[in-house]
Amino acid sequence: MSSFDFAPLLAPGLPPAAAKWNGFAQYSFVGGNNDPDHVPVDGLIAAMAAVLQREGATLATYGLNSGPQGYRPLREFLAAKLKRTAGIVCTADEILIVSGSLQALDLVNGALLTRGDTIITEAETYQGSLNRWTRLGVNAVGIPLDRDGMRMDALASALDVLKRRGVRAKYVYTVPTVQNPTGTILPEARRVEMLRLAEQHGVPIFEDDCYSDLIWDGRRPPALYSMSKSGGVIHIGSFSKSIAPALRVGYIVAPWPILSRVLPLKTDAGSGALEQMVLGEYCPQHFDAHVPELNRGLRKKLETLMDALNEQFGTAAEFDDPKGGIFLWVKLPDVVDTMKLYQPALAAGVAINPGPEWTTDKGYGRSRMRLCFASPSHEAIRAGVAKLAEVCRREFGVPDRIANVQRARV
Ligand SMILES: Cc1ncc(COP(=O)(O)O)c(C=O)c1O
Repeated sequence: MSSFDFAPLLAPGLPPAAAKWNGFAQYSFVGGNNDPDHVPVDGLIAAMAAVLQREGATLATYGLNSGPQGYRPLREFLAAKLKRTAGIVCTADEILIVSGSLQALDLVNGALLTRGDTIITEAETYQGSLNRWTRLGVNAVGIPLDRDGMRMDALASALDVLKRRGVRAKYVYTVPTVQNPTGTILPEARRVEMLRLAEQHGVPIFEDDCYSDLIWDGRRPPALYSMSKSGGVIHIGSFSKSIAPALRVGYIVAPWPILSRVLPLKTDAGSGALEQMVLGEYCPQHFDAHVPELNRGLRKKLETLMDALNEQFGTAAEFDDPKGGIFLWVKLPDVVDTMKLYQPALAAGVAINPGPEWTTDKGYGRSRMRLCFASPSHEAIRAGVAKLAEVCRREFGVPDRIANVQRARV
């Protein structure tokens, strides 16, 4: 036990102290974890052996022989894949490999944001992005969504209101393709409109596209990046959802004038080389076959989750059947406060993400929760949802029927 007191030495403005990790909950529906059964372990082992045998000596140089933007064969794979699947025409020189798209968020924010700035975002959005804006002292204007993602009428009025106040937003942040947490996909016509509005107001778009490979029917609209005529879009993506999050490999695609301002902020002398090499070797041959298999597994888990919710919560749990991804965004009756459901659920072994942590409007998120279905097993999904229904009923009186049986209140 150390007795040295660091407290008086700490820099001002630090985030709150971290809590010690106590392991995963027995039934964990939190985080963006993936399906352990669909990590392509054998393929990664073979790729790692092959690439190390061939190029292992290049580990002697920072950045391998590829320079500061990351392992070139991986960037070349990405340039070809983004063209084929998202319509993005770019070269490997417009791609920067980063340590997960979380680092992409930090780098792009670092290049564009300063305290007091305003950004625009979907009102239901990724907690990691929300936390960053809060920490940076940036004002996030939330735009409501419907079943087709961000509403363009609401975006137009928000841009007009800001303009009247003399505020030019620093960017419109969007997760347009399998949105987190709603699972919506922004249709092509809305993408055209978003680009038109953004260009009209001189505001860039920050397109966070890490779920776009996880679509059940494999069909996605073109990326905003590919549709922009002005070049005012920054696109980020990740291998976390399509291969494995622990690899920590993501990427930024941006025109050189902005990428060249982002790159100097990446001060870690490059992301981990082994992860980049293994992906650069594995993906060209296997990515396209791996993803549909992963999606079939995810879809089955989603069905298990929706069935379990219907059985255990009945009409008390409302949700749309998402077209892809790893999350279900669930509305519970108004009496439920998911921030208050969180602790007793965890005490019973069930971890959930409370809605207010995923919304700019905390009141709107109050009775909502996000459930990740990718990582728990089918059995854990069923048992975890049954436990959650019990806890929710004990704490809030709903659902009043569980598995079609009217429960006496205890
Ligand atoms: C919308 C969104 N962006 C970025 C990330 C960060 O992912 P990673 O850093 O693993 O690429 C996530 C993770 O869940 C996410 O949901």
